[in-house]
Amino acid sequence: MNTKNQDIYNKLLVSAEEAISHINDGDTVILDMGCCEARGIERALVENYEKFRDVEFYQMIVCGPTPFAEEQYKGHFKYNSLFASASNRKAIASGYADYTPCFFYEMPEVIRDIIKPRVSICSVCPPDENGYVSLGANVDYIGSTIDYCEVKIAQVNKYVPRTLGGAVRHISEFTHLVEIDEELPEVPTIPLTDVEKAIGKNCASLINDGDCIQLGIGGIPNAICAELAHKKDLGLHSEMVGDGVVDLIKSGVINNSKKNIDRDKTVVSFLFGTKKLFDFIDNNPEVEVNPIEIVNHPLTIAQIDNFVSVNSCVQVDLMGQVVSDSVGYNQISGVGGQVDFVRGAALSKGGRSIIAMPSAAKGGTISKIVPVIDEGAAVTTSRNDVDYIITEYGIARLKGLSLKERAKALINIAHPNFRDELALAYEKRFHQKPF
Ligand code: COA
Repeated sequence: MNTKNQDIYNKLLVSAEEAISHINDGDTVILDMGCCEARGIERALVENYEKFRDVEFYQMIVCGPTPFAEEQYKGHFKYNSLFASASNRKAIASGYADYTPCFFYEMPEVIRDIIKPRVSICSVCPPDENGYVSLGANVDYIGSTIDYCEVKIAQVNKYVPRTLGGAVRHISEFTHLVEIDEELPEVPTIPLTDVEKAIGKNCASLINDGDCIQLGIGGIPNAICAELAHKKDLGLHSEMVGDGVVDLIKSGVINNSKKNIDRDKTVVSFLFGTKKLFDFIDNNPEVEVNPIEIVNHPLTIAQIDNFVSVNSCVQVDLMGQVVSDSVGYNQISGVGGQVDFVRGAALSKGGRSIIAMPSAAKGGTISKIVPVIDEGAAVTTSRNDVDYIITEYGIARLKGLSLKERAKALINIAHPNFRDELALAYEKRFHQKPF
């Protein structure tokens, strides 16, 4: 680093204990999420928990533990999730922690204007010669907090990839820097089941050469990637991506050559994968990691022709109401960008949105297509927004269909073990047999 930037860096460099001493009792703190969570600083907070009272943390998806949601820190820490994850679902269900529903593209504005955190904590890679760092695998909502939080703490970690685009920030934009190197948590790719392979094939049949795609979270995206190897000139504009896209970009299947905006570039807002993905995005000018309020804004997506969004869900009722982030009263994830992309794709010229899911859950014992959604469940994508529903048994396009037509189309792609039950529910509701 040149002398001027080295001086700035040296002035900002403190220990984790010193950095967290700037957090006051009663403060609201916004935390980085996913693979770039600033775990070193979070550890320091947990080790020093007795020094804090009523500090509230907001955070989206986490890969590992969520110590701030543990009841043992009651009175010291509170946790408010923006996307429930495995390690905090129980705390939310028990009422100890909480969940805040919010469209992902609106999150930065809601955080700034309503939640109003005084402190932000994130990870960055080490600075370059000119003092520029990168937010790495996560820009999402955390990027914009750097513009307005009073205390801006960054963990400088050599394992954070230097991603480009909106991820790049100057060290002088932070108030405290803490050097802690530690490998990023990885989200491994799980081998595909036959059901996922069939879903992947059905989804891929709706993706044409030249389309621009978004892939959601869960088991389905990698199944789709596996089926795209023979497509041409695909674009990628997605809130998140995992390992599955690396080979498609390297082989040129995804080349972004037909995009109306960000031509020749893959645009994402966060990445969720393994070292294979982190190495691929490191200093890669073909990939931009940009703020969620831009990437996920339906009006950004609308500018890209032939946009195909693919997301997943836990339940669809016979009217086409899609439940994706709760199982009954249990908050299992969050709305994330599902509705942002469903609406953006609907606005795109030639655009389509797909909700893809296995037809049954829990080893085939529970139908995901149901007459009515479970008590307590929240509708994520409304029946007015829904377009294609896909299972391993086929494709149902609901847009433009009446209630009866939708129900029939959905019964046809339900798991065969549940079709009779669903047909009876249809008969009860519409006073006639479906077929
Ligand atoms: N009834 C009861 N339980 C159900 C169920 C149903 N109909 N459907 C799913 N489940 C359970 C599963 O058994 C699993 O439980 P477990 O963790 O105890 O095994 C859990 O719910 C998660 O389901 P699974 O199918 O493993 O999820 P996934 O990892 O494939 O992700 C979603 C699927 C829907 C949860 C995920 O895509 C999501 O959170 N979507 C909403 C947000 C979104 O789409 N954002 C856009 C991109 S971020």
